[in-house]
Amino acid sequence: MPQPPDLRVVDDPAEEVGRLIAEQAGRAGSIVLTGGTSPGRAYERAAELQPDWSPVTLWWGDERCVPPDDDRSNYKLARTTLVDRLAEPPGEVHRIRGELQPADAAGELDKALEDAELDLLLLGLGPDGHVASLFPGTPQLDVEDRRATSGPAGLEPLVERVTMTMPTLRSAQRIVFLITGASKADAVVRAFVGEIGRDVPASLLRLAPVRVEVFLDRAAASKLGTG
Ligand code: 6PG
Repeated sequence: MPQPPDLRVVDDPAEEVGRLIAEQAGRAGSIVLTGGTSPGRAYERAAELQPDWSPVTLWWGDERCVPPDDDRSNYKLARTTLVDRLAEPPGEVHRIRGELQPADAAGELDKALEDAELDLLLLGLGPDGHVASLFPGTPQLDVEDRRATSGPAGLEPLVERVTMTMPTLRSAQRIVFLITGASKADAVVRAFVGEIGRDVPASLLRLAPVRVEVFLDRAAASKLGTG
């Protein structure tokens, strides 16, 4: 049975999520980062609050197929806002190699994830309801026999993507969304209140065994309750 998501409308979701990332880093374990424009400040706060990440294994839920120094790279976002600011870097870093052919990078991620346990999974929500790089109605959503896959992007930046698959995302011990801005308000309703389905990939996380936690600002939450 799907569990209702834990929706937390707060003044500063990046601060709250930064704190919970830092708490997880302090307890050790594996942390899966997301990309996009929303998480940078959360990563900066996490680095300030917990500068020792030596017992942490770091993963990314998805990557854009660009080199690691490209401004569109999710790895670059995390390196500049988090990893480069730490006193002690993470013990293990599983960067998705966006510079490879997408299928090769996905194969590498699939292999690396064998036997991996994901303690904290961070996710954003696209205005079209996508999550990680799983876009509405695409065949990548149906991949169940691999831990990672690749495919085209449904939204900007329109570069190929490598992404963890839905069963891998759902396997995390803790699943946390960080969502800000009015442009996400409709997608928030569709993902967390509406019907669960392939046309809103984020809604499929509600089928995970753990309760999804959603941190959102008032603009992103503005259509909840009316939806
Ligand atoms: C990516 C993502 C993607 C992102 C959402 C939300 O690489 O683009 O990982 O799933 O989390 O698109 O992004 P924003 O934070 O930019 O709204």
